[in-house]
Amino acid sequence: MYGNWKPYFIAIVNQQNNSGPKIPRHVGIIMDGNGRWARMRKAPRIMGHKNAIKAVRAAVTGCREAGVEVLTLYAFSTENWQRPKKEVEMLMRLFEEYLTKELKGLQKNDICLRILGRTDRLPSYLNGPLQTSLRETKDNKGMVLCLAVDYGGRDEIVRMVQSMAAVVKTGDLEPEAISEETICQKMDTAGLPDPDLIIRTSGEHRLSNFLLWQAAYAELYFTDLLWPDFTEAELHKAFTEFGLRDRRKGKVNA
Ligand code: IPE
Ligand code: IPE
Ligand code: MG
Repeated sequence: MYGNWKPYFIAIVNQQNNSGPKIPRHVGIIMDGNGRWARMRKAPRIMGHKNAIKAVRAAVTGCREAGVEVLTLYAFSTENWQRPKKEVEMLMRLFEEYLTKELKGLQKNDICLRILGRTDRLPSYLNGPLQTSLRETKDNKGMVLCLAVDYGGRDEIVRMVQSMAAVVKTGDLEPEAISEETICQKMDTAGLPDPDLIIRTSGEHRLSNFLLWQAAYAELYFTDLLWPDFTEAELHKAFTEFGLRDRRKGKVNA
């Protein structure tokens, strides 16, 4: 009856019912465009990274207030080690600063911190702040904030296969018993729902090795905004668009 207007009609009815847009359980964000933000201002790239913190706060607060269960922020990829040494060092120092400065805010908002990716290649000065933040926030229940640092979807799959193969070798697991569930349990995201919505800023339309296994049925939302310009309003735009998507998951709708 409503043809192509049906989803918009439903959205309007939802708004009239004050039920608002449907909120994803797990939001992943590929925070991209810091370098271009700085270049537009003829500033060094690190200025873009520094100004990204404000946007991180907007995303964390916006998701927490909307009732999102898990927010994953892609902060540093396994490929990002190939950047100039100075930029990598500054990114790691910013990460240290974030962990130290934001701990109070995470506690206040009942947010549990989790790290996705490998930690064995991170500079040792991160160990202390990382362990403190993980320990202090581990019982928080309001939202899980995953920071993907030295994270790559392929690297995660390699580590999962290695650990699975080790269990098979001991004889505790038959190869036939390997299932999607046993794989999920060995991923960095074990116990978390898959991302329903992945947002990427800066106009790039690719995953860049982000949550490759988990993104199987994620809705993708792209915006031209550069990450330091990201706001809660943009997050709500993404939620509205998410609410309008027809998530068939391979089925045929009635
Ligand atoms: C994203 O911004 C931050 C990281 C990948 C660490 P970029 O640094 O990739 O910014 P652009 O893409 O060069 O503009
Ligand atoms: C993706 O951004 C990684 C992070 C946001 C941490 P990049 O800027 O590294 O990705 P590419 O190079 O555009 O694929
Ligand atoms: Mg980039």
